Amino acid sequence: MNRAEKPILSKPHAVCIPFPAQGHINPMLKLAKLLHIRGFHITFVNTEFNHRRLLKSRGPYSLNGLSSFRFQSIPDGLPPSNEDATQDVPSLCEACKTVCLAPFRDLVTRLNDNSSFPPISCIISDAAMSFTLQVSEELGIPYLGFWTGSGCSLWALIQYPKLVEGGYFPLKDESYLINGHLDTIIDWIPGMEGIRLKNLPSFIRSRVDEPSYIVMKYIVEEIVDKIPKFSALIFNTIDTLESNVLQQISTKFPAVYTIGPLHLPLLNNLTQDDDLNSIGSNLWKEDTDCLEWLDTKKPNSVVYVNFGSVTVMSNEQLIEFAWGLANIKMNFLWITRSDLVMGDSAILPHEFLAETKERGLLGGWCPQEQVLSHPSIGGFITHCGWNSTLESISFGVPMLCWPFFADQQTNCWFICNRWGVGMEIDSNVKREVIEKLVRELMIGEKGKEMKENALKWKKLAEETITSSNGSSYMNFEKLVSHVLLRNG
Ligand code: UDX
Repeated sequence: MNRAEKPILSKPHAVCIPFPAQGHINPMLKLAKLLHIRGFHITFVNTEFNHRRLLKSRGPYSLNGLSSFRFQSIPDGLPPSNEDATQDVPSLCEACKTVCLAPFRDLVTRLNDNSSFPPISCIISDAAMSFTLQVSEELGIPYLGFWTGSGCSLWALIQYPKLVEGGYFPLKDESYLINGHLDTIIDWIPGMEGIRLKNLPSFIRSRVDEPSYIVMKYIVEEIVDKIPKFSALIFNTIDTLESNVLQQISTKFPAVYTIGPLHLPLLNNLTQDDDLNSIGSNLWKEDTDCLEWLDTKKPNSVVYVNFGSVTVMSNEQLIEFAWGLANIKMNFLWITRSDLVMGDSAILPHEFLAETKERGLLGGWCPQEQVLSHPSIGGFITHCGWNSTLESISFGVPMLCWPFFADQQTNCWFICNRWGVGMEIDSNVKREVIEKLVRELMIGEKGKEMKENALKWKKLAEETITSSNGSSYMNFEKLVSHVLLRNG
């Protein structure tokens, strides 16, 4: 993936637009950077809500340092956010659906009419921003969709009409949550035999009167139903990791490109490129103090705890996690966002802080890839967001899974049941269980087995992007030619 310098106006021009949430902006930015390295001019489009946050969290936003990597923003109708605002997924979906189409059309038209930029060769859109398809059709611009989650999560979502037909969903009332309905095993989803209803993406398990039902409708109507119209679908995943479900998906969508894990080629290629490296996507200000602390710890001795950008918990759950970590008497690094506890700030008891001050570090939003690839990290307590999952697997780190919502329950099921690299923590978390599972993860037989599996996946992840026979390497090459060839 060498950098090819061409005069700016002769470069192919990709307009990249992520769904406005952290777990979507990160992989889209990585894809954009890889295309830039391959000689593309990039216009990266954030919605204003996040554009403002990125400006705040990154200081000078360093967005115009490169003449051929430009940032633009479009209105989303959301009120200004502060740096710590929780990402409210139903509002984001609603905003994207109702507000963004016209501003995006205007932006693409303006860019195409501006003689300082090359004409647009393609729109690469998050599949969750499918309104952009209309703009591509109106203006005759080639279009590629990017599903930033796992293949297994998309495959599960595709089953929604059949699940409705079978009377499983929508849940009629609350009794379905407690009467064992969600424990029903579903044996007819190819590639997912043995999965239970409770392991399917949380949104499709909603009742019609819940806010998550809005998200479910958005996902089914605005994403899954529109994907067959995309000329290609990109995944940040590895073929061998999800081969069964990806084969199924390929029967529905002809051009599928699995090119993950997207962070690995960047770590391998970009260390010298300060301009590109300085472009970041953190919505929170990054706290890097933990890296020095990790340097003082022995290999595989630290439990890393991070629940990503959206998960929230009750104060009781926070306290159970805290005492579980304290009682195990091992090193831990725990990243606590200020909005981690629902309706409150994450404040931990003095006794816990005093008890763990020698071996525990509490930190703010961290450089997660650097943390997970640090030799001191022995295990990861995670919410199973797809980026965290893929990062953990590709750095050979086994997991304890505490899925919160969306695709996380499905990712968790695959992590624990198919890939052999994790154990699940019950949603009703208890300190004794944390203690027991962390001990097993870090020094138990099962932990050892999971570590071995994780190291196998790490090797595969590296090979898939570095070897010229690797599926992600080859698919990225095909993707570039697909776009370039269509460009003539
Ligand atoms: C959301 C959804 O919740 C998730 O289920 C979906 O798969 C993607 O979108 P999020 O909850 O933020 O994402 O989780 P995740 O997918 O793990 O993405 C978080 C990203 O932020 C990762 O790339 C991670 O490296 C990064 N991160 C997280 C940091 O850089 N620092 C942190 O402290 C925490």
